[in-house]
Amino acid sequence: MNLIDGKKIASQILDDLSKKIARFPRKIGLAVLMVGDNPGSHAYVRMKKKACAQLGIDSLTEQLDADTSPETVLQKIEVLNHTPAIDGILVQLPLPDHYNPQQITRAIDPNKDVDGFHPMNVGKLLLGEEGGFIPCTPHGIQLLLEKSQIEIAGKHVVIVGRSNIVGKPLAALLVQKRRGCNATVTIVHSQSEHLSDITRTADILIAAIGQPHFITNKLVKPGAVVVDVGINRVQDESGNVKLVGDVDFSSVAPIASWITPVPGGVGPMTIALLMQNTYESALRRG
Ligand code: GUN
Repeated sequence: MNLIDGKKIASQILDDLSKKIARFPRKIGLAVLMVGDNPGSHAYVRMKKKACAQLGIDSLTEQLDADTSPETVLQKIEVLNHTPAIDGILVQLPLPDHYNPQQITRAIDPNKDVDGFHPMNVGKLLLGEEGGFIPCTPHGIQLLLEKSQIEIAGKHVVIVGRSNIVGKPLAALLVQKRRGCNATVTIVHSQSEHLSDITRTADILIAAIGQPHFITNKLVKPGAVVVDVGINRVQDESGNVKLVGDVDFSSVAPIASWITPVPGGVGPMTIALLMQNTYESALRRG
């Protein structure tokens, strides 16, 4: 079994970016809006701010109460859309229940949508068009595989989970001809029949279902590559919160050819690709 070192690959991307950003003729700005008190979101927003600080990107973070109205958030987005110093705008998900997340992501200028969640950017990804933004986690997974020299062309990739953030855009990316991905992609989800029969045919199995330790060795073909996108907060026996993946690492690692750890696998790549999208936005905007 080989470990896919996301931390190392992400830090190479960040080192490379930091040199490019140092040469860029003006300050780059990223705005991060967070509504409510989701503990996971607090941690992600902290990591995003820290990465910005390391690279010399100005980060403007606003934490809003859970009862903030969607209209208030829409107004803030409108102001940021027209603020020249802001190159990227991100609204941390999930949003409180009284929000329609689609309405919020649609309000972001697609040219500043560094998450790649706006329908314009989702459409460009699906069509294989250049000039959009690819969502950070899917792009991070593709680069993890590429930089670990794991061949995906012609291979059967099974993605467990159909979210708009990971499963669906990842399928669109990995099936693409234009980027040389050329994978055969299947998505399975909570309603899929014969789920384990399908996952056992995967050369590359990607778990993005948000259920701790859902993927056990019974769902994995020996020799498969296993990528764990899950970051689930669970309490251990002493009541401490710890982060566990969607993959039962101890049962799966012995039969996998390659596997990502949690933490230190996909997570750092998401942050690195957000920084890359923000730099890319600044380059395009000039
Ligand atoms: N919540 C979980 N992942 C993400 C992400 O990549 N971007 C945003 N905005 N929210 C998230």
